[in-house]
Amino acid sequence: MAEAEELPKLREDFRMQNKSVFILGASGETGKVLLKEILEQRLFSRVTLIGRRKLTFDEEAYKNVNQEVVDFEKLDDYAAAFQGHDVGFCCLGTTRKKAGAGEVEARVEELNFDRYSIFRPGVLLCDRQESRPGEWMVRKFFGSLPESWARGQSVPVVTVARAMLNNMVRLSDKKMELLENKGIHDLGKANGSLKP
Ligand SMILES: NC(=O)c1ccc[n+]([C@@H]2O[C@H](COP(=O)([O-])OP(=O)(O)OC[C@H]3O[C@@H](n4cnc5c(N)ncnc54)[C@H](OP(=O)(O)O)[C@@H]3O)[C@@H](O)[C@H]2O)c1
Repeated sequence: MAEAEELPKLREDFRMQNKSVFILGASGETGKVLLKEILEQRLFSRVTLIGRRKLTFDEEAYKNVNQEVVDFEKLDDYAAAFQGHDVGFCCLGTTRKKAGAGEVEARVEELNFDRYSIFRPGVLLCDRQESRPGEWMVRKFFGSLPESWARGQSVPVVTVARAMLNNMVRLSDKKMELLENKGIHDLGKANGSLKP
């Protein structure tokens, strides 16, 4: 069995590879926090946001972020926007009802990536600016519970973003990984050794 590796070393090894990344959904709650973490951890030499509109950033840290605006109804016409990237994150917002339970995951499998990871978090805890009364109530409820109770069903969005990145830097010989809420908590809060 492979040895567990230390997170700081895994990150440094990853940085040395000068990889490029695209993010879908960087204007959403998960994508926004993921982008911030990616920039803070300086994991990639090139970062591209692919979205349906151009985003505005004031902070200096975002000045080298590239943006591609695409029409999601005609993605075949925009294949070039995706090409030349080593890693891609999809944080597009959808509901299980709209996407069809398991349908997105099945379609991703068809794309035959070398490696892909599916994250299935519980209720996302974040400070959403947009008004979604139903979600707001659920978040308030989970936010008021002791952490040990809430963590079974919910997860802070920053923990999800860190779990996505910690998972990415650890080596894996598995083609597909599926992370549910507990796995996301464990991986997102990890600071030391990570099992491959
Ligand atoms: N909220 C939760 O508690 C929860 C729990 C578990 C899983 N999830 C899942 O996690 C994912 C991310 O959630 P989130 O709360 O971070 O999402 P979000 O804040 O709603 O962000 C949605 C993102 O997707 C983009 N988007 C939505 N519809 C699009 C379309 N038709 N074409 C192109 N772009 C589109 C939005 O772009 P614009 O800014 O241009 O609109 C935005 O960047 C979702 O699939 C959600 O179902 C959420």
